[in-house]
Amino acid sequence: MEEKKKVMLSGIKPSGDLTLGSYLGAIKNWAERAEQFDCFYFMADLHALTERQDPAELRRHTLEQLAQYVACGLDPEKNTLFIQSHVPAHAQLGWVINCFTMFGELSRMTQFKDKSAKNAENINGGLFTYPALMAADILIYQADYVPVGDDQRQHVELTRDVARRFNGIYGDVFKIPEPYIPKIGARIMDLLDPESKMSKSDDIGNGRIKLMDRPEDIMRKFKRAVTDSETGAGCIRFDPVNKPGVANLIQIYASCTGETFEQVEAEFAGHGYGDFKKAVGESVVEMLRPIQTEAHKLMSDKAYLDELCRKGAEKASYVAEKTLRKVYKKVGLVPKA
Ligand code: TRP
Repeated sequence: MEEKKKVMLSGIKPSGDLTLGSYLGAIKNWAERAEQFDCFYFMADLHALTERQDPAELRRHTLEQLAQYVACGLDPEKNTLFIQSHVPAHAQLGWVINCFTMFGELSRMTQFKDKSAKNAENINGGLFTYPALMAADILIYQADYVPVGDDQRQHVELTRDVARRFNGIYGDVFKIPEPYIPKIGARIMDLLDPESKMSKSDDIGNGRIKLMDRPEDIMRKFKRAVTDSETGAGCIRFDPVNKPGVANLIQIYASCTGETFEQVEAEFAGHGYGDFKKAVGESVVEMLRPIQTEAHKLMSDKAYLDELCRKGAEKASYVAEKTLRKVYKKVGLVPKA
């Protein structure tokens, strides 16, 4: 008998451009996951509203991110890809979950504290109750695993607490999800500040390679990448503690070419940083080329994107509405005749 696959779910806030860091560190490995798990990925556009967004930019980012994920190899036939607001059950369950999430719990969320400190003029209710909507996102698909970074772990813990609380009152309604720590993907660092991660962000950042950067911009950014003052044969070696900039470049080159760190060191044993940075830039340009071509093609094919969104939302709604109906019934809402 074929065993039912475990459900994996992740939301991506469409609030910035994807980078080489997100690709090599995560997305690249997602394509294979579909064999093992039943995967749901959604563009968390409702979550993006907790910060003020330019409407046209938000729309563009949402569709671009979707197109880029597909271009990176996430097969829409094998994964459920959709836009959060296209599945109204998220917001509907979100309200119910809100009513089972305590003020005290939400007050303890470190992300809320950080964000409200940074953005004192817009501490809105959505920012505060965001984790309840996130819990609904997860619970509505009865997800087993939620791949998240460190910044989201606390929200997954909260989801577990709220789900247990609900189940304690109404019986086994929700699956209790677990955070999923992916097999270590490459941890790509900022080119100008190799002590911090190359993260998704809105600003231009010369230390960040965006997935859709033009080849000349990629080459320019690598040319300026921080290394160290060592010269001579053997200066290109993997030593993340003492040579973080060089180690990061080796890691990037190895990820792009499929070589091991030792092979990279051997290949560049007699070279200086200038040559190496150029080679790393070229390897990135070549790796990104087909992804960029595909993403541009998808973005210009409105009919394809519409159909992709429609199919994804339909698949997701089927599962989501089943859970929502059950929850509405359990809490005592009158079923629609
Ligand atoms: N909160 C996540 C972030 O800011 C995005 C997100 C929304 C999410 N809903 C989710 C992630 C559900 C995992 C599961 O990155």
